[in-house]
Amino acid sequence: MGVGLGLQKMMKATASKALVIRMNLVFLAFFFIIYVGLFLQPSSSIYFENAASLVRCSLRECHHKVEKGMKMEAILEESSKAKPKRLNVSKIEVPSFMNAMGKGVKIGMVNMDEFDTDEWKVRGETIPINFEPVSEYFKWQDLFPEWIDEEEESDIPSCPEIPMPNFRIYDNMDVIVAKLPCRYPEEGWGRDVFRLQVHLIVANLAVKKGKRDWKWRTKVVFWSKCRPMLEMFRCDDLVRQEGEFWWYYQPVIARLEQKVSLPVGSCKLALPLWGQGVDEVYDLSRIKSATKIAKREAYATVLHSSEAYVCGAITLAQSLRKTGTKRDLVLLIDNSISIPKREALTAAGWKIRIIKRIRNPRAEKKTYNEYNYSKFRLWQLTDYDKIIFIDADIIVLRNLDLLFHFPQMSATGNDIWIFNSGIMVIEPSNCTFRILMSKRKEIVSYNGGDQGFLNEVYVWWHRLPRRVNFLKNFWANTTLEASVKNHLFGADPPKLYAIHYLGLKPWACYRDYDCNWDIGNQRVYASDVAHERWWKLHDSMDDKLQKFCGLTKRRRIDLDWDRKKAREAGLPDQHWRINVTDPRRSESHLID
Ligand SMILES: *[C@@H]1O[C@H](CO)[C@@H](O)[C@H](O)[C@H]1NC(C)=O
Ligand SMILES: *[C@@H]1O[C@H](CO)[C@@H](O)[C@H](O)[C@H]1NC(C)=O
Ligand SMILES: *[C@@H]1O[C@H](CO)[C@@H](O)[C@H](O)[C@H]1NC(C)=O
Ligand SMILES: *[C@@H]1O[C@H](CO)[C@@H](O)[C@H](O)[C@H]1NC(C)=O
Ligand SMILES: *[C@@H]1O[C@H](CO)[C@@H](O)[C@H](O)[C@H]1NC(C)=O
Repeated sequence: MGVGLGLQKMMKATASKALVIRMNLVFLAFFFIIYVGLFLQPSSSIYFENAASLVRCSLRECHHKVEKGMKMEAILEESSKAKPKRLNVSKIEVPSFMNAMGKGVKIGMVNMDEFDTDEWKVRGETIPINFEPVSEYFKWQDLFPEWIDEEEESDIPSCPEIPMPNFRIYDNMDVIVAKLPCRYPEEGWGRDVFRLQVHLIVANLAVKKGKRDWKWRTKVVFWSKCRPMLEMFRCDDLVRQEGEFWWYYQPVIARLEQKVSLPVGSCKLALPLWGQGVDEVYDLSRIKSATKIAKREAYATVLHSSEAYVCGAITLAQSLRKTGTKRDLVLLIDNSISIPKREALTAAGWKIRIIKRIRNPRAEKKTYNEYNYSKFRLWQLTDYDKIIFIDADIIVLRNLDLLFHFPQMSATGNDIWIFNSGIMVIEPSNCTFRILMSKRKEIVSYNGGDQGFLNEVYVWWHRLPRRVNFLKNFWANTTLEASVKNHLFGADPPKLYAIHYLGLKPWACYRDYDCNWDIGNQRVYASDVAHERWWKLHDSMDDKLQKFCGLTKRRRIDLDWDRKKAREAGLPDQHWRINVTDPRRSESHLID
């Protein structure tokens, strides 16, 4: 649930436009000093070690801005190196499924050597596609920067250009054949810009020049040691695999078209911020094409291993219903959720499905994230085309139905090139589920949770505005950050689409104040305004549902203990002085 990687988070803040302009300079100086400090830390991530980046801050966020222009004017003498080295293998054999295509076919050849294409000539006409390989100085973080100026306060986000062939000069093709670079198992092989470039060229070529059959599918063949990026070429469209290296796809053009119409990375919002005032409706014409028919759509969340989030899921459902959505609300639960709780969850609006939880084979036994891979079950909801997954510690304040227009994987940013898995647009698929399951052992999740795992599978993702999944944290630790964020948390009518309650959850506190204040390392998550917002929603629910948000005896003991510790430490915010009036404290209100 989105606890991030590193130091850079401490810099995060938000601000209103007017303030930004006034205070930018002061903060530039201030953050620069901090950043110099960070650079000297031995533990700073690779992200910081890239030269050519400069520190750029607004009150909203502070971050590195990569000098895109310079990088992309790429050092042409290096480009020959970017070509994959010729392996000492015998000539690439033409796969047998080519026979079925008959003679006289037009074959587009991407990243294939002359040497490899000879044998194809007997099949028809081979058309080599010329393109300039990306410079090796072009790094993944140029496409997936940690921060972008979403609200366009002082900059309009832009993406560096990935060289593409001149598509116009080519005729239509029956099939596109491409050799994909694959540096597996080298460290970081998945975030290889050259590999992405070849994928993008093939996808664009298929959309622009691929002949389509009556089902609006085209033909794409890959020669690759690793599986082609499933973010672009869905396993559902895989028709044949042959030998170790051949992959034959028949992708649906409309889906590919949507993907190549989105920004090449998270360097730009997939969806600009619904206009400055957040009230304008975004022009969807550009992204609608693939989703015209699809109405089998649902919101979903997952509860497993304990009942700790039952109250969260109840409030989430109620908050979704308040936004007026007509979509199904689907809840996956395992057998740790008791019958009375299931009834309450159903009453709150969820359609319940029972699942078997999924163990992370790399997790220690009995740890808090041992079964976090249970989220993968979402991909088995194949009676829906699209799911908006929402963590059970989130409440939704504005209608999110717009997100159903976006493809998998769309999410908000977390850290470096990582997305936050708290809200994700996903597309259920049995073969995707099988792939996720088969990678459980191999993939190392940076945080032991599903977020780290999914970020290794979906390295190419689309950025949603952070207001869609606004994290309750105060990494910058400044009064300005607090005032701006608290303004957003409290705004009514809401300015945020959803609040993601990091740290201790509101229902695990007394309602009098955010109990994150009472614990040293949780204080960055403390916001009385966001806390109050949650309780307001709670109070609007039916009494019968509210009952499921009580405290357990154990939790009450812990809360009182934390307050005592805070008092002893004399924590300066003095929340421990607040007299607790929460009726949930009384013996008669405690729950199991
Ligand atoms: C390539 O492989 C062949 C045998 O398949 C071998 O005779 C030749 O020496 C190899 N060449 C290199 C450069 O390794
Ligand atoms: C996915 O698998 C389930 C069970 O194995 C099956 O019932 C369902 O029909 C499959 N979905 C599709 C779209 O094939
Ligand atoms: C794992 O799941 C639990 C409960 O669902 C959640 O509290 C925790 O943050 C998750 N951990 C990670 C690392 O995602
Ligand atoms: C936040 O700032 C206060 C003082 O302004 C300081 O005492 C506290 O340690 C800081 N917290 C963090 C997490 O940096
Ligand atoms: C809390 O209650 C005590 C006695 O019950 C009282 O003396 C004190 O003033 C109260 N504190 C606040 C902040 O209301």
